[in-house]
Amino acid sequence: MKIEKIIFATGNNDKMTEIKEILRDFCDNIVSMKDEGIDADIVEDGETFEENALIKARSVWKQTGQLVISDDSGLEVDALGGEPGIYSSRYMGEDTSYHVKNKSIIDRLEGVPDEKRTARFVCAAAVIFPDGSEKVLRGVMEGRIGYEEKGSNGFGYDPIFILPEFEKTTAELSPEVKNSRSHRGAALRAVRAEIEAYANSDSK
Ligand code: IMP
Repeated sequence: MKIEKIIFATGNNDKMTEIKEILRDFCDNIVSMKDEGIDADIVEDGETFEENALIKARSVWKQTGQLVISDDSGLEVDALGGEPGIYSSRYMGEDTSYHVKNKSIIDRLEGVPDEKRTARFVCAAAVIFPDGSEKVLRGVMEGRIGYEEKGSNGFGYDPIFILPEFEKTTAELSPEVKNSRSHRGAALRAVRAEIEAYANSDSK
């Protein structure tokens, strides 16, 4: 089954690339807010990934009434009490480069041994259907923080996030391998199942 059109409530091009790849065989018309001419400055003031994902999706749904999905994601580092968490994109300021953000996390973990460098990427993906009903689903990828940046694929904190299965950072993995293991891949595949169930139900 193919879905005609999905609006993805994000302004982040890196995420857009990943989501198009993850849902490629499901919908080949995934458009961003920008593509739809929506220039909303959405205030993400929720306290959880789930709340923030819903805030973004609701804002775009109110303006379009169409099938909207969104995600809110971030990196939780256990030795930093779960930071940067929901503040991952705002950590040290939105305009600070990820090279600087990554270095800061490595510096703050100085002297912390491997077994205490555990971390996870979390993604909450929300979907709002044309009838206004909502679902929000979480995906998680467990790993640990390395001692230096490695790899040039992916984005954000990928160069310092080691996936134990490969002993490589997610920036060293191909997009296909990352997406098959990632928090975003898991959350979006769960969203996809919800969309399929909706499309096969009477409420469509
Ligand atoms: P938001 O979901 O747009 O609020 O931002 C999430 C932020 O978390 C991104 O800007 C990255 O800093 C980080 N992040 C989320 N997912 C990933 C990922 O797959 N790789 C690297 N960084 C990520």
